[in-house]
Amino acid sequence: METLILNSIKESTFLVTGGAGFIGSNLCEFLVSNKAKKVICFDNLFSGKLENIKELMNENNFSFIKGDIRDFELLLNVTKGIDYILHQAAWGSVPRSMVQPLNYTSNNVQGTHNVFEAARINKIKKVIYASSSSVYGDYPSLPKVEGKEGNLISPYALSKKINEEYGKLYWEVYKLPTIGLRYFNVFGKRQNADGDYAAVIPKFIQLMINNQPLTVFGDGKQSRDFTFIDNVIQANIHSVFLTNAEAFGKAFNIALQESASILDLFQLLKSNLNSSSELVYKEARDGDIKHSLADINLAKNILSYSPSHTFKEGISLYINWFLNNKKI
Ligand SMILES: NC(=O)c1ccc[n+]([C@@H]2O[C@H](COP(=O)([O-])OP(=O)(O)OC[C@H]3O[C@@H](n4cnc5c(N)ncnc54)[C@H](O)[C@@H]3O)[C@@H](O)[C@H]2O)c1
Repeated sequence: METLILNSIKESTFLVTGGAGFIGSNLCEFLVSNKAKKVICFDNLFSGKLENIKELMNENNFSFIKGDIRDFELLLNVTKGIDYILHQAAWGSVPRSMVQPLNYTSNNVQGTHNVFEAARINKIKKVIYASSSSVYGDYPSLPKVEGKEGNLISPYALSKKINEEYGKLYWEVYKLPTIGLRYFNVFGKRQNADGDYAAVIPKFIQLMINNQPLTVFGDGKQSRDFTFIDNVIQANIHSVFLTNAEAFGKAFNIALQESASILDLFQLLKSNLNSSSELVYKEARDGDIKHSLADINLAKNILSYSPSHTFKEGISLYINWFLNNKKI
């Protein structure tokens, strides 16, 4: 990362919501190891784990607050004296949102509004927040380009779209600089591998290590723009220190701009892990989109985003980490 940015990190204080989760814990680790003045990890441990941040707990520039973004008074308190907020806290998973939609309104919509409002009152310098490729809904053509979104097809997608509308409003009306990052299928260390709502890559790796069968929903030809965690960290950090107001109030695709099908993923993992796992096909799930591929030119031009890791490089680093760190 650029020296100017690394120097700026040392002079800044950060609040990472959802900091005990997958992406949040990677952001905390990056900021702490690059000697940020202060990093507060704020998380209610709904899907996040203390285990994810245990190595940071002894660092002088790191602290953990167990708290909920639905608690506005608490947020108002913890954001005092903070320069930048990296807002990752949310309920993830499209399929879960189909069966528990109200939780997506309370956690993702109201929770995010609370974050923006606390930031406005406490004059936070910038809020970078997690959006999602799901906001493209049923828009048919590829690659997905900002400004061309279709009808939303899940409560999760709606919650993220509403977040973006608040992000835009808080910049246009209140001049709170906000930047939304539309992540496309992120993967990497500390991603949750367990349970019905785990993402496909950690879940497949876990099962393949044990040579167990893998469930595929649909024909396996559905494709995703799988994005390695280091690319997502870079996008967040570049956004934090961006001074170009052209970016504020907007949301950007953060991906690799390459897609792989579930069948491609299976083959790649199988050869890397030397596994005898086989696929079991089940009916496609409601709310899932068939193909996803990002156009990342806007992020390249405005955020100076430039993915450092390809899909294959990311997979190989992740598998190494998995084999060295996970109880299998
Ligand atoms: N992982 C991906 O591929 C992906 C893709 C698109 C968008 N996103 C978004 O990125 C963000 C981070 O996702 P992740 O993959 O790290 O998921 P994660 O589940 O690992 O992290 C989310 C964190 O938010 C916390 N949280 C949930 N509700 C909360 C609340 N009410 N108050 C405080 N904390 C709360 C959880 O405990 C968890 O630690 C989310 O906003 C998610 O919607 C992720």
